[in-house]
Amino acid sequence: MHYVAPSLLAADFRRLDQAIELVNTSEADWFHLDVMDGSFVPNISFGQFIIEQVAQDAKKYLDVHLMIDQPERYIESFARAGATGITVHAEATNHLHRVIQQIKETGCKAGVALNPHTPVSVLENVIEELDLVLIMTVNPGFGGQKFIYNSLQKIRQAYDMIVVRNSPAIIEVDGGIGLQNAQKVLEAGARVLVAGSAVFKAEDPAGVIQQLKGISGNPVGIV
Ligand code: DX5
Ligand code: ZN
Repeated sequence: MHYVAPSLLAADFRRLDQAIELVNTSEADWFHLDVMDGSFVPNISFGQFIIEQVAQDAKKYLDVHLMIDQPERYIESFARAGATGITVHAEATNHLHRVIQQIKETGCKAGVALNPHTPVSVLENVIEELDLVLIMTVNPGFGGQKFIYNSLQKIRQAYDMIVVRNSPAIIEVDGGIGLQNAQKVLEAGARVLVAGSAVFKAEDPAGVIQQLKGISGNPVGIV
């Protein structure tokens, strides 16, 4: 079974209550929340203040994706804001192992995200510690970009590492995901589909979520 995680970044923030309600009442599994600091990525989105308010109405898993430099400075405050899981970028910290422990100490699920240029091998010494590996399928910073096809190979590599090392981690994919490529990423080993534009820019967002949930595609063994 796979999960669908609509990214609120693509929602209409004048109607945030409707976006939250949509995710609550649809077949979606998680809320995906993109935090951008204008330094690690060129864009600035929102922080703990907004997440804390979303958390008051959100009835599902809050998947917080930190696209910020030195995320170790803010782990406790995002946990306090209501995160269920916190994902940091491997490229954003000098002390990845320590940050993962820090996330776990808050009681949140711990994830590590990899930019398109970052090899899966950077996870070699932390893979057993992880609940989630986030493979970026676009360069982070903006919604609505085109899926990078080379990522399929990386998803397979991550899946392979997880199986061989008996890690509890699941793979999430983020960026340019929609009905056109969901089956391929699931077959490569992904378990969580983040979708921003594909959901919120659609005429029938709940219908797209339902279709994304309905796609079947089991990982094709170890590669
Ligand atoms: C990109 C963010 C994504 C973004 C995905 O940096 O991490 O979560 O919202 O948006 P789409 O699905 O439109 O590519
Ligand atoms: Zn994201």
